[in-house]
Amino acid sequence: MQFLAKDYTNVESLADTDYICFCIEVDKRTIVKAIESDADTLKKIRAVTSACTGSDCKNVNPTKKCCSPQINKLIKQVKG
Ligand code: FES
Repeated sequence: MQFLAKDYTNVESLADTDYICFCIEVDKRTIVKAIESDADTLKKIRAVTSACTGSDCKNVNPTKKCCSPQINKLIKQVKG
């Protein structure tokens, strides 16, 4: 059986305990809860959870990029 790497760009497929922000180690559940508590913009998510405030994304995030696209996808998914 071939090992399939987790696709961290596909937020819907991630578990609640999977990290969205790897720099600050913030999981999906924490971000979804913040969105449900009206932190419905990237700026508010940053303020409430500190997610997306790191600077080592290229090295620690499996997507090799900042987590902001995944946070924006979660905002759309929860508020959509
Ligand atoms: S992965 Fe979120 S700030 Fe780097």
